[in-house]
This record gives sequence, structure tokens and C-alpha cells, in this order.
Amino acid sequence: MDVIRVSGGARLAGEVHVVGAKNSSLKLMAAALLAEGRTTITNVPRITDILIMAEVLRRLGCEVSLDRDQVTIDVPAEPRVETDYDLVRRLRASICVLGPLLARRGQARVAHPGGDAIGSRGLDMHIHGLERMGAEITGEHGYVIASAPSGLRGASIWLDFPSVGATENLLMAAVLAKGTTEIDNAAREPEIVDICRMLTEMGAQISGAGTPTLVVDGVDELRPVTHATIGDRIVAGTWAFAAAMTRGDVTVTGIDPMFLEIALDKLVTAGALVQTTPDSLRVCMDRRPSAVDVVTLPFPGFATDLLPMAVGLASVADGVSLITENIFDGRFMFISEMARLGADIRTEGHHAVVRGRERLSSAPVRATDIRAGAGLVVAGLCADGVTEVSHVNHIDRGYPDFVSDLRSLGATVERATIPDDPAFTF
Ligand code: EPU
Repeated sequence: MDVIRVSGGARLAGEVHVVGAKNSSLKLMAAALLAEGRTTITNVPRITDILIMAEVLRRLGCEVSLDRDQVTIDVPAEPRVETDYDLVRRLRASICVLGPLLARRGQARVAHPGGDAIGSRGLDMHIHGLERMGAEITGEHGYVIASAPSGLRGASIWLDFPSVGATENLLMAAVLAKGTTEIDNAAREPEIVDICRMLTEMGAQISGAGTPTLVVDGVDELRPVTHATIGDRIVAGTWAFAAAMTRGDVTVTGIDPMFLEIALDKLVTAGALVQTTPDSLRVCMDRRPSAVDVVTLPFPGFATDLLPMAVGLASVADGVSLITENIFDGRFMFISEMARLGADIRTEGHHAVVRGRERLSSAPVRATDIRAGAGLVVAGLCADGVTEVSHVNHIDRGYPDFVSDLRSLGATVERATIPDDPAFTF
């Protein structure tokens, strides 16, 4: 088991570059299934989730090669249609092959992902939307089994909630359906705009990207393309908050700061100086941050994936902050780990009241998911002594080069492998 040990007290300063967004690249790889031939995606992060998605595509019959920040996917005329639980349990986002497979092959068998550490995470909106497009969907032995023997047809679909995953699956199904599909209350995240851009380059007819109404006119076929992933706003936001928490001065390149408008505004309220260019941002903080309330919402609201960073900032801020989570029912799981670092947090339903402390106190803690893991390491920078974060394989799923980036910004941090304790092994 790998751990990250981080010494408290460092002030992060310098420049860090972010590569492509995990949550875009993964879906762009799935979108490649929509066209026979070779699709290339560039600016792809070197993280575990990308390796798992590559394996998902290989088992569907694609040839996939990864070279530095580039993934090349050769898609056969007839991809296979089954993705098993072994892969889906490692990467929930594998469910996004459902839409493309139904569109290309008229059938799909994808293991049901179940819940995970941040919440129950249903699939009802994916399923209802595809049913409205003419798919027949059943569940058996832990699989979602979908078929559309006479093809998908355009439909009007209203999402109860602007789900990112449901919007993506329905979009990828609609581009090859017969007729026009309208998706209302669609997600507006930059990653949705990115996939719409790639699909349009492939020959899809989509209007409304980045608005709550997506209109898709189905076409007969799509062509493979080369497409560059947008920068990762969550990794960029992590560095922005880390700069403010450590009273540092960090410039983040490779990111459109408009993706982080509300998050950066919160940092300004907390007392930071924020400067932006079209593809970079700088956060500079010369005093203890002031308390600031945060409410997570679908884009353009404050991203749920930055909630652990907001809790971290509140934990060392001057005053009391109210943090409200509206997207995932289990996102506060990591708060008991923050309490081990001495954070003063009381939760009530989906609200957390955080009383800031001048310093946190180092302790062994456990990463419960990708973002909580990164948040705990950054909180460790504000703790007296050395904090050891375990289960850091979660962090590997979303943050390429996390430890070396932290080091380049001036943190004292190391990664180590802890051998199994013989007392607990047979
Ligand atoms: N939901 C349903 N039914 C559905 C779909 C969603 O009830 O059919 C619920 C979920 O349970 C959740 C909420 O709606 O409570 C939002 O889920 P959404 O579908 O928007 O999220 P997702 O597609 O599963 C993606 C990102 C998450 C990110 C969320 C919200 C990927 C691979 N994952 O998840 O990223 O938090 O959107 O922005 O794109 C991460 O990167 O660490 C991460 C968790």
C-alpha cells in the first residue's frame, strides 16, 4: 500500500501546468466508438483511469495505444458489446460506453456500476432517456442489458437533474439516432462542451452545447478525428485552493479560468489576489484566509469535486464557514479524516459548519476518494508535523504527477510503499 507523507508549514509558490481533464478524456475515448477507424485524442492525463478505459475499449475489440499524452484508438467495423464488472467496478465512467454501443451496434451489455465512496449514484436518467429513444432495457445478473433492434430514434428528453453522465450517454446515442433529439435540463459542464466539439468534428449535428437544451439531428455515420482534451479544471482548482490555504503564490497554466469562475471568486472573498489570462490563473495569498460559505451545484456552480478543497480552506480560515453539498450524498465521508487532522467540523445532512483553526495537527489519514485524497494531502500542508495519507491509489486516478508537482511548488513530500504487517497476514 502506498502512502504520501507531507510536512506541514510549506508555502506553495511557483508555476504548475495542468494537462487534459480526466472527465473529458474518458468520455472522448468512449466517443471514439462512434466511428470506425483511427481516432486520436491528445492532452490526455497519465492516470490510472485512462489505463482502465483503454482496457474497456480493447475488450470491445479496439486497438488502443498510449504514448505520452496521446491515446490512439482503432475502432473495428463491429465493436463487441459487453463490458464486465471487473472493469466497471474499477472505473464507474465505463458506463459511458452504453450510449455509443447502442448507437453503433443496436445492443449493449454493461455491468451496473453500483454505488461508490461518494454516494449511491443512480442510472435512472441514463436508462429512461435511452428508453425514450426506443431502447429496451432490462437488468440481469448485475448487468444493464440494452437493445434497439430497429435502431434508436430521436426523442424529447427532460432530465430531472443535469446529470453529466446521463447527458453524455444520451448525446452519444442521439448523434447516430434517426431524427432529432432534444435533451432538456442537460448538463453544461465544460467537459460536455468538449465532447460536443469532438462529436461535431466527427460530423455530428449538435446545437446548444453549454446551454441547458441540447438539440441533436442524427446522422448516418461519423468519421474518426484527432481531438485535444480541454484542461482539467478540478486539478487547476486544487492548486488554486492549495495556494490560498498555504498563503502561497501559484500560477496554473493550461486552463481556461472561466471554467473556475465561482471557485476563484470564493478565493477572492477569502482574501486572495487572483489574476487570469485566457489560459492561466494566478492565486496569491499573503494572510490567513477569511471564512467563506460554499454551495456546490452543477456547472456553472461551485464544483462538487472541489468540495474537499473548500472544506480544507474553511478549516484553516479565520471564522466560521457553511459548506453545502448538493450533488453526492456521500461526499462528506472524508470529513472524519479531516477531524483527525484537528479540523473543527460539524455536519448536519448535506451541510457542514466549519470553524477555522490557525493550524491543523498532523495525523495518519486515509484517502476515501480521488478528491478527498488530494484535499487531505493539501490539508497536511497546513498541519504541524508530518501527515501520512494512505490509500493514495485514489489520488493516482485523477492527479498525474501529484507528488512531483507539489515538490516543484516547494512542499516537502514523499511517496512510500508500506509493506503488509506480518501480524495481519496468513
Ligand atoms: N444521478 C441519478 N441518476 C442518474 C444519474 C445521476 O440519480 O441517472 C445522480 C447521481 O447519483 C448524483 C448526481 O445525479 O447524485 C450527479 O451525477 P452526475 O451524473 O452528474 O455525475 P457523474 O456523471 O456520475 C461526473 C464526474 C464526477 C463529478 C460529477 C459531477 C466523471 C467520470 N465523473 O460524475 O467526477 O463529480 O460528474 O460534476 O465524469 C471525480 O472526478 O472525482 C468525480 C467524481
